[in-house]
Amino acid sequence: MSSSNPDFAQLSILLQQVAERVGINADRLTAAPSPMLALPFVREFIRMCGIGDSLGFHERNGGNASYHLLPEEADLARAAAVNEPGPWIPIGTSVPELGGHLFLVTGSGKFMRNVPYDPEASICLAEVNPAGTDYRILWGLRDGGRPTSEFPTHLMNHEVKSRVTQGACRVIYHAHPPQLIALTYVLPLEDRAFTRALWNTMTECPVIFPEGIGVVRWMVPGGRDIAVETSKLMERYNNVVWAHHGLFCAADSFDNAMGQMETIEKAARIWMLVHAVTDKPLQGITDDGYRAIGRDFRVEIPERFL
Ligand code: 13P
Ligand code: ZN
Repeated sequence: MSSSNPDFAQLSILLQQVAERVGINADRLTAAPSPMLALPFVREFIRMCGIGDSLGFHERNGGNASYHLLPEEADLARAAAVNEPGPWIPIGTSVPELGGHLFLVTGSGKFMRNVPYDPEASICLAEVNPAGTDYRILWGLRDGGRPTSEFPTHLMNHEVKSRVTQGACRVIYHAHPPQLIALTYVLPLEDRAFTRALWNTMTECPVIFPEGIGVVRWMVPGGRDIAVETSKLMERYNNVVWAHHGLFCAADSFDNAMGQMETIEKAARIWMLVHAVTDKPLQGITDDGYRAIGRDFRVEIPERFL
């Protein structure tokens, strides 16, 4: 007696037909998940994007992220990325120290919310050419597209941070955290003003970003100029605010990148809560208090901020 249930081959044909009828890429319904998605750093990257979305840091396509692969991870990723590489495309800036390196990066116009749901369409693996001027896509962005419009800033930040941390910094994460953005309308757009305001909201802040926080004045995003300004500040800081726009965090791990984003946004929120009640808070953390934190937590609090 024949069964009325289609077998897998029939199911695949049916899915192809349905895909054609509704006008979507049939591979999306029938292809096996890529081996790339089993790699631990790819999984962590995807997880970070989902957490950022759940915390309200990413309206629509707001924000982006990149991960600088270690050499052994790059070997794994090259083996897992079975597609034909895409054409070489100018980065829009040059990052000679990153020549030949591989990066996982979110796609321009892609929604962070969709990264866990459909990673192969939302993120890609990009290779930088030996001269550090062009990139090509080795995997991902299945339905087309290109890396984030902030790729020049991501790569220039990676270049600086890789140098100043002897390769320890791997993650650059950009988001649009609302209360920090609001703060860029009320505080002077200076490193010192933001550092002091945010440190003074929670005792852990000077422990988490003892070097302070950098501020870039309002600039048009998505190009080389803002990338140059941001990467200059990344020489000194791990977190850089973009006025009326958002925050860039640089870290050695996905947890720390997200931890910095969350801490700084929470600090901005506390600042707002305090200043919603009074213009003149009665007390706060003193300069000697910061020095004592530096001593006890073995972090360097720059004297220029005190
Ligand atoms: P992309 O969609 O190109 O990543 O742009 C989002 C963004 O936040 C620009 O700063
Ligand atoms: Zn942005």
